[in-house]
Amino acid sequence: MIKVCDDKLGRKIDYASYKDEVASIHKMIEEKTGEGADYLGWTHYPETFDKEEFEKIKACGKYIRENFDALVVCGIGGSYLGARAAIEAINGLYGDDKVEIIYLGQTFAPSYIAQVLKHLETKNFAINVISKSGTTTETALGFRLVRELLEKKIGKEKAAKAIFATTDKEKGALLELSKKYGYTRFVLPADIGGRYSVFTAVGLLPLAAAGIDIDAFIRGAHKGLVAYGKEDSEAYKYAIIHHELYKAGYPVEMMVSYEPRFVQLGEWWKQLFGESEGKDHTGVLPVSATFSTDLHSLGQFIQEGSPVLFETVLEIENPGVDVVIPHDDDNLDKLNYLEGKTFDFVNKKAQEGTMDAHSEVGGVPNILIKLDEMNAEGCGELMYFFMRACAMSCYLNKVNPFNQPGVEVYKKNMFHLLGKPGF
Ligand code: PA5
Repeated sequence: MIKVCDDKLGRKIDYASYKDEVASIHKMIEEKTGEGADYLGWTHYPETFDKEEFEKIKACGKYIRENFDALVVCGIGGSYLGARAAIEAINGLYGDDKVEIIYLGQTFAPSYIAQVLKHLETKNFAINVISKSGTTTETALGFRLVRELLEKKIGKEKAAKAIFATTDKEKGALLELSKKYGYTRFVLPADIGGRYSVFTAVGLLPLAAAGIDIDAFIRGAHKGLVAYGKEDSEAYKYAIIHHELYKAGYPVEMMVSYEPRFVQLGEWWKQLFGESEGKDHTGVLPVSATFSTDLHSLGQFIQEGSPVLFETVLEIENPGVDVVIPHDDDNLDKLNYLEGKTFDFVNKKAQEGTMDAHSEVGGVPNILIKLDEMNAEGCGELMYFFMRACAMSCYLNKVNPFNQPGVEVYKKNMFHLLGKPGF
């Protein structure tokens, strides 16, 4: 169960003063009456999801694992960040899983694209192309390339059996293409936006292909729905603190973890909060860091720089695995005092010392979010927790959590510069 600790904020939060507002926003979310209500399909998805499609996803994940060495996940933003975040958080960065997950369609950088294509030349790979619209430029271009490579390698007919498309059920370019070539299709429900889609096929198929127990992942999301889908929940408590700190003059929130495998989780969280909340020239800017690594780069700023940020520290109580510090006869580094202790012990002491240094000496408010374990279930629960918190926080700040009108501005300019017809 997730616990939100507020003893290092440097202030007391008057939760009682939020009771009525939180209750009315919660009712609005549940009854789908607020702004953006057409995109609230994710709230009860962990119980309403299509069980038949879920079984089809599991079977497809198994098929990929039995027949291929790699899966290219082709998507951008909400169509790939959740899957990548969960896969890395659960499997770690150097897992020895036999199916390699490779990401394409999230960049225009030729150096990255050329390297991926070269890497794939010798691989027996499948493709999961994920796009609600089917016309997102990065994804559609990446898919063109990787599909061409696959067709050249194994022929059009076999390639069609190795391409899996996740898209809208009723419309869009990818749906048409999939029908034309007979790709196996999965659904991105029309009432769920990209950044809230990790529990749909968008997240589940890459997770299943990566060998992750998606039953446990959905079980975690369901646990989240039961625990945080109610007025008096830890997710809403986090949203209230986040909102109070914003009002108190802290426009930046730094999500901190002590786990390098959570870097992509930070990317997903940044999209979730940034794209949901950053509207009408308001909202908290989400940034992320990994400690203790970044204490050696950003630590100085956090401790003594402009007082613009608060930190949200993600602590995993049980790391799942641990490493013991060995004895060294020379002891020239003077570290034998740690002999026999574990790295988790050191990591947790680094966290404790840093939280005190930042909050008590530096005056940086620290929120602590504690999670028992980071496995498939824990990850599902945590992602659901953040989604609920994000919706609440946006409504507290009077913005629609489910649109992203500002994203179109750069696209129009880019399309004009690229000579796209009609721009
Ligand atoms: O959250 C969002 O809405 C965006 O990040 C989209 O998911 C992203 O732009 C990809 O869009 P599409 O799935 O249509 O390719």
